[in-house]
Amino acid sequence: MAQLAEQPMTTLPRVGKQSDPCIMVIFGAAGDLTGRMLIPALYNLARAGLLSHEFAVVGVARAQISDEDFRKRVYDDVKTYCGECVEDDLWRWFSGCFYYYTGDFNNKNLYPQLKEYLNKADQEHRTQGNFLYYLATSPNFFGEIVEQLAASGLMEQNNGHWRRVVIEKPFGHDLESARKLNQHLLKVADETQIYRIDHYLGKETVQNILAFRFANGIFEPVWNRRYIDHVQISVAEMVGVEGRGGYFDQAGSLRDMVPNHIMQLISLTAMEPPISFDANAVRDEQAKILHAIQPLSDEEVLSRSVRGQYGEGVIDDKRVPAYRGEPDVPPDSRTETFVAMKLLIDNWRWADVPFYLRTGKRMPVRNTHIVIQFRRAPFVLFRDTAVEHLMPNQLVLHIQPEEGISLQFAAKVPGPVMRLGTVDMNFEYQEYFGKQPSTGYERLLHDGMIGDQTLFQRADMVEAGWSVVNPILDVWKALPPRNFPNYASGTWGPKEADELLERDGRRWRNFEK
Ligand code: BG6
Repeated sequence: MAQLAEQPMTTLPRVGKQSDPCIMVIFGAAGDLTGRMLIPALYNLARAGLLSHEFAVVGVARAQISDEDFRKRVYDDVKTYCGECVEDDLWRWFSGCFYYYTGDFNNKNLYPQLKEYLNKADQEHRTQGNFLYYLATSPNFFGEIVEQLAASGLMEQNNGHWRRVVIEKPFGHDLESARKLNQHLLKVADETQIYRIDHYLGKETVQNILAFRFANGIFEPVWNRRYIDHVQISVAEMVGVEGRGGYFDQAGSLRDMVPNHIMQLISLTAMEPPISFDANAVRDEQAKILHAIQPLSDEEVLSRSVRGQYGEGVIDDKRVPAYRGEPDVPPDSRTETFVAMKLLIDNWRWADVPFYLRTGKRMPVRNTHIVIQFRRAPFVLFRDTAVEHLMPNQLVLHIQPEEGISLQFAAKVPGPVMRLGTVDMNFEYQEYFGKQPSTGYERLLHDGMIGDQTLFQRADMVEAGWSVVNPILDVWKALPPRNFPNYASGTWGPKEADELLERDGRRWRNFEK
């Protein structure tokens, strides 16, 4: 193993506690997620002084790569994705933390050998026996890797050290497979060792939903069915399937986005205040909301959910192909690239308040936002004025790429006659707090290293998310779509998605560029 360099002084002010000493073992280290997200996030943590001095990364994958070549890749990733020149001192220390181990995850012999290797690295880097395993692999390997780690004693926590495993999505492909995977994992590991990651929870704007709701006295009293007319959650993407046609065609938008990312947004928007920020206190409240979402009956799936697939079209003045023309997608694919639905939450706070959700690829803009639409004020006062109708107030939580919050309200247009205009009160993150280099994985990796599970999914939450989606999967499977492709790239999805709201006298709020 390499000569260890001293960790240099940090280059950014450190906000928060340093991680525990540990080795992060990345299964799938030669893959895209590792290069694009994990390594840049680790570098950003190092810059912020949030990584322990006693730290190492062991990348494991099938490809034959030397430590030196792995470090070269790490260098290129940091350069490409951190958006800053690599700082020499920091790089010297950081690169000395990286090792590569060749192995086939299905080969049972890998694990005892890896154990020896990790024990050696542990001594050298004084990481106190703490191992954070990160499964950046195909989901087929999740159960097997954890089982083999356990069989080799690599999940055992004794003498004060910890062993944790971070599991990427997709966690199962339906309710039954998610349950089976949970059972498989929980046979060999404790729930407190399992960190089911959802990168949406790494986004500052998503975490801010809790701060916004519970650190301010003025919103919570009106955050309920008496004042709120409905909620819209839109996750619009401009990209298509980006070379992931093979995966995506098996998954579809419903599985890819709804039980995970969109369920996070719903639960944070709708949950009751937790009694503390303790991981289980927060997750108990999120889980209650997920359990309170009314599952759709077969008839309701037909009337309250919409699926779509993009045809060719124009985005940003460029012609883009239809989904069926993407690499690794069959020319007659029936996989949806757009989904919209109306859900109801069966509890006292939200009874009868619709939550409309939609997500799609090849939309005209990239924009994730949550619209809270309040009930209209009574019109009575304006009957004898030039005002024809009152607009409802909308509070918009802008998740990305704009990051902020805006409140729309009516104001008097100056002049002798009573006329109203709709105006916006705006908060933008960047204006107040500047921009921090971030991939969105920094907080989640750091939490894994300090043992904070608040932003990770518990077994019951994952299963509750799938319970909402499962009836839709079943009906859609039984009734394959006949009208695909049914929206052009560069539009806001099929017309049925607009009709879903129009039937209720409502409209999607679309943000253009
Ligand atoms: C991933 C999905 O989980 O999230 C992708 O598999 C999707 O299909 C992505 O594009 C969206 O993430 P973000 O952070 O770009 O909104």
